[in-house]
Amino acid sequence: MILGVNVDHVATVREARGESEPDPVIAAKMAIDGGADGITVHLREDRRHINDRDLLRVKKNVRNVELNLEMAATKEMVMIALKVKPDLVTLVPEKRAELTTEGGLDLVKSGKKIRKAIDEIQSRNIPVSLFINPTIKDVQMSKKLGAAMIEIHTGLYANAKGKRQTAELARVRKAVKSGSEMGLLVNAGHGLKYSNVKKIASIKGIRGLYIGHSIVANSVYRGMKSAVKEMKRLIRQSQK
Ligand code: PXP
Repeated sequence: MILGVNVDHVATVREARGESEPDPVIAAKMAIDGGADGITVHLREDRRHINDRDLLRVKKNVRNVELNLEMAATKEMVMIALKVKPDLVTLVPEKRAELTTEGGLDLVKSGKKIRKAIDEIQSRNIPVSLFINPTIKDVQMSKKLGAAMIEIHTGLYANAKGKRQTAELARVRKAVKSGSEMGLLVNAGHGLKYSNVKKIASIKGIRGLYIGHSIVANSVYRGMKSAVKEMKRLIRQSQK
């Protein structure tokens, strides 16, 4: 099972100050040093975190692992994907006001647009993955639309507790099974954390997990001590 690390929120911190750091490309390289099998960036319409330059730099600097471009199925994004040629495109729904992707694609409402994007991108040998809710209907629709892959939305599982979580886990499991049986490559992601990843990672048939926020958050904790130590060292040194 591969791990794709989403570095969007490194860019979110950078954008909060309008500075050049932290740099998502440096973070991506470090993630690869840590064993990441892939790097994901979501180029949003409003460029609120990752921007076009980041994407080009990630493409140039991130080698030998999967570059997954998350994007909406719009004309603009399809053009960018065909130009940048990532290893994988994951189509996601996108609403301007949302804090993060809120749910899977609406394959009925947006079916035509999604099929067109799949056809255009896959005709250039770039596989397309559809981010979908864990329902058999959406898995079937994804197959019908011609996607090579699906990513099962684990957000409801991640946010649920107790019996509700067990039920959500069963839905994910069923969706994974039916996707595999239909010959789709099946990924999963959203809301996965150190505390809830194990049950998803133990599902047979998942090709890869795509995780962002929790890894970025944890890397702040893990790095804080040494970052402060280094600053103290410089201050002490200059007072001698
Ligand atoms: N997969 C998809 C399709 C997403 O949109 C996101 C969020 O950008 C993720 C996975 C990662 O979610 P999280 O940041 O909650 O780990």
